[in-house]
Formats: sequence, structure tokens, C-alpha cells
Amino acid sequence: MTIAEYLEAKRLAVDQFLDQVTPPAVTPPATLHESMRYSLMAGGKRIRPILALAAAEAVGGEAPGLMAVACSLELIHTYSLIHDDLPAMDNDDFRRGKPTNHKVYGEAIAILTGDALLTMAFDWISRPDLMKGCDPARQVRLIQELAHGAGNRGMVGGQVLDIQAENRDIDLPALQSIHKHKTGMLIRAAVRMGTIAAGATDRQLDDLTGYAEDIGLAFQIADDVLNVTGTREELGKNPNTDAERGKKTYPAFYGVDGARRLADDCVERAVGRLSSFGPTADPLRDIARYITARKH
Ligand code: IPE
Ligand code: IPE
Ligand code: MG
Ligand code: MG
Repeated sequence: MTIAEYLEAKRLAVDQFLDQVTPPAVTPPATLHESMRYSLMAGGKRIRPILALAAAEAVGGEAPGLMAVACSLELIHTYSLIHDDLPAMDNDDFRRGKPTNHKVYGEAIAILTGDALLTMAFDWISRPDLMKGCDPARQVRLIQELAHGAGNRGMVGGQVLDIQAENRDIDLPALQSIHKHKTGMLIRAAVRMGTIAAGATDRQLDDLTGYAEDIGLAFQIADDVLNVTGTREELGKNPNTDAERGKKTYPAFYGVDGARRLADDCVERAVGRLSSFGPTADPLRDIARYITARKH
């Protein structure tokens, strides 16, 4: 199976689970459920859930509730995008190939839709039906990983740093910290949650955490590069928005080619962290390389 086929198969499985478990659009309050589905089912790459699945595969253990664990990450990610696009934040009007949530449903519903997706993520990984067979101690660890990756010391903390850095002359360590938090911490949680769900050893968890931190940084550097080089059609979101909003990015520091090289270095480091794993970690190796090769 090529990596393109692997990603496609996993994406379809994730889409199917999200579609089945998210309440139908007609469920009251219908506007809320319609809006949640509008952003959730708009066609993201599903890279965070896929990383959780691939990490579990690398470890090879039984992982009851793995699909709920994986998809909880997509709920958090989609909420973060809805809020990120709001006028008070990045003020973007196009996302996943469609008008942003607030353009369709208004700002109040967009904020509440994000809140509902965030909360639903914790519902899913707590639910006895979806998590059947998961050891309770392991389940609490998973919940804590998600909270840590998403919250004040993770993604949200990073978004605060990102907003505060707008139109300011930040240095490279500050930029790296923004990227490691706003994007890296949820990717780290994705890999760690898949690993923990599958019952990894501490050594395996350490190695895979290192891998995740390296690809997390690479992922946001690649996002910065695509913001300069991509088209609206390829990206499903507007390009050149970072420069317009006065965001310091890796291409601003290093140029596009320099930023690409740095992202490639991160990917090679990430792959190096997997040296103690056999072929079961091949999907993780291929996903690392896909992160810098992607066009959207
Ligand atoms: C975009 O994430 C925002 C970042 C954190 C870089 P993705 O590139 O994963 O977006 P989707 O989910 O495929 O739309
Ligand atoms: C997104 O960062 C990080 C989030 C946690 C949402 P960006 O603002 O750089 O991502 P895009 O380019 O809008 O997708
Ligand atoms: Mg942003
Ligand atoms: Mg943005």
C-alpha cells in the first residue's frame, strides 16, 4: 500500500466515524448541529486522527476505543480552526474549500460551535459505549493527554503567543515556541494518545513523543511555506494571509527554500527517532515525509 492509499483509507474510516457519531443536523438545537457538521465534514486531511491510528499500529497492542480517541483530536482541531478564523483572530473567510463557519452561521453560533466541538471531544473519550474495553486508568491518561495538548499549556497557549506576536519583531526562539505550541502540542497529543491507547512501554512512548515533536514543528513550517507558495484552490483557504496580518513565519526568517530545508531536517530527525521500531512504524515514517511534500 502506498502512503497515498494508506492516508485515503484512514481518512475514509475517520470520516465515517465522525459522521456516524456526531448527532444528525436535524437534532435540536438544529442550527448548532448543522453548524458542527458544516465545519467537521468539510473535508480536512484528518492528519491528527491518522497519526493516532498509525502510532497505535507502530506499537501493535490492543487499543479498545481507538477510533473515538483518534476522532476526539479532529473535534478539537476543527473547533480550533473555527475560532482561529474569527474576525477577532485571523479574520479568514475561506476554510476547507468553503466559506468559514462564521461567514455562514454568524460569529455567535461559530463561537458556540467551537465550544460544542471542544466539549464533545471529551464526551467521546469518556463514553462507555465508545471506549468499551479500555482500562479505566488508561482512559484517564488519554483524557489528560487531550486536555494538556489542547489547553493553556498546549494549543490554546500557542494561539495566545501567536496573536500577541502579530506586527511585532519577535526572535526565532519565540517563533519556534509559537509553532511548537499552537500546532505541535495537538500533534504530540495525537501520537501519544495512539501510543498510550495501544499500551506502549515508557521507552516507546518517549521515542514516539520525540518523533511527534519533530513532525509537529515541520507541519507548521510547511503550513507557513504553503501560505506563501500555495493557491486558494490547492489549499482550500486563502494564501498570503500571514504577511497581510503581520505574522512572523519561517519563510520570513529563512526564505521559502531555507524554511523548506529546516522542515526537511525536522522530518529526518523524526524518522531517526523511530530506529528501534520495525515495519509496523512504516506508516509513521511515510507520514513524516508526506508532511513536507504535501501541497495542501
Ligand atoms: C491547519 O491544519 C492548521 C494548522 C494547525 C497548521 P491542517 O493543515 O491539518 O488542516 P485540515 O484539517 O486539513 O483542514
Ligand atoms: C492554526 O494556525 C493553529 C491553530 C491552532 C488553529 P494558523 O492560523 O497558522 O493556521 P491556518 O493557516 O489558519 O490554517
Ligand atoms: Mg492563527
Ligand atoms: Mg489562521
